[in-house]
Amino acid sequence: MIDFGNFYQLIAKGPLSHWLNTLPAQLSAWQRESLHGKFKQWFNAVEALPELTPSQLDVLHSVTAVLQPDLSNGQREGLEVRLRQLMPWRKGPYSLYGVNIDTEWRSDWKWERLTPHISALQGRLVLDVGCGSGYHLWRMVGAGAHLAVGIDPMQLFVCQFEAVRKLLGNDQRAHVLPLGIEQLPELAAFDTVFSMGVLYHRRSPLDHLWQLKNKLVSGGELVLETLVIEGDENAVLVPGERYAQMRNVYFIPSAPALVRWLEKCGFVDVRIVDQYVTTLEEQRRTSWMTTESLADFLDPNDRSKTCEGYPAPLRTVIVARNP
Ligand SMILES: C[S@@+](CC[C@H](N)C(=O)[O-])C[C@H]1O[C@@H](n2cnc3c(N)ncnc32)[C@H](O)[C@@H]1O
Repeated sequence: MIDFGNFYQLIAKGPLSHWLNTLPAQLSAWQRESLHGKFKQWFNAVEALPELTPSQLDVLHSVTAVLQPDLSNGQREGLEVRLRQLMPWRKGPYSLYGVNIDTEWRSDWKWERLTPHISALQGRLVLDVGCGSGYHLWRMVGAGAHLAVGIDPMQLFVCQFEAVRKLLGNDQRAHVLPLGIEQLPELAAFDTVFSMGVLYHRRSPLDHLWQLKNKLVSGGELVLETLVIEGDENAVLVPGERYAQMRNVYFIPSAPALVRWLEKCGFVDVRIVDQYVTTLEEQRRTSWMTTESLADFLDPNDRSKTCEGYPAPLRTVIVARNP
């Protein structure tokens, strides 16, 4: 079972201390009642990993751990076998003692695109909503965040995070909780909140923006990365059953519409800082994620469209401030 005790201790004295009124009971109930059928199998793979402390750890430019003297070939192969038991790996890449987890997404490219536009993370308390395997949490730590907290309801991703953490010397600067945003109280405590790749999965996107806002301190920064369409402030796509094969896509606004939504929710200084089309190099099938990926979701005769005929994935990054 995942031990959240270190996290409780870490937040006991800071601005998140009031979260302890509800969080331990919530996570105990989760461990008792809500475990996925494969959780035990995934967690066994984490438990079977050695706890390694890197001689060199780079989380500023990548997530790379190196040991000197290096692991033997047999040890490295054992590590890779365990990590492959946690497939599919979607967000990364990670380089852990010579095992290169080539994930479906080049999450490092997303990070490099947005970091020039956001407030420095040095010393900040940071929340990453929908953090996946936690790749960006480590990069937030690398950028100087005091504590990086991720939430994600997908239990495989929580196990992937725990696996990486164990291989980074059980580093306590980042934590992932198996929760959805709707399960968090109004914390008003984080200096920066990231929501990347989540908004279009929410049935009620304005509620999502409100929920992000009430996690921020006054003056705190929201970094919102999401799918958009071209168009003016009234343009919103509501796809049919599927968008790029995904069933759970509800609203894809234009970037100007999203700016208006954010302003309606009370954010100020709202800025569109980036907009880009996802390429087949950034999201693709690899030996660590062997099922369908972006190439299979696009129209083979016209890559500017999804296989359903909608505009191909266009993403934006918007930065806004909680007054
Ligand atoms: C497209 S992925 C984005 C992952 C990562 N943030 C990134 O940008 O690479 C969306 C993530 O949001 C998570 N998610 C889905 N519903 C959520 C919810 N209600 N609250 C928080 N996260 C959620 C999913 O499990 C998934 O890991």
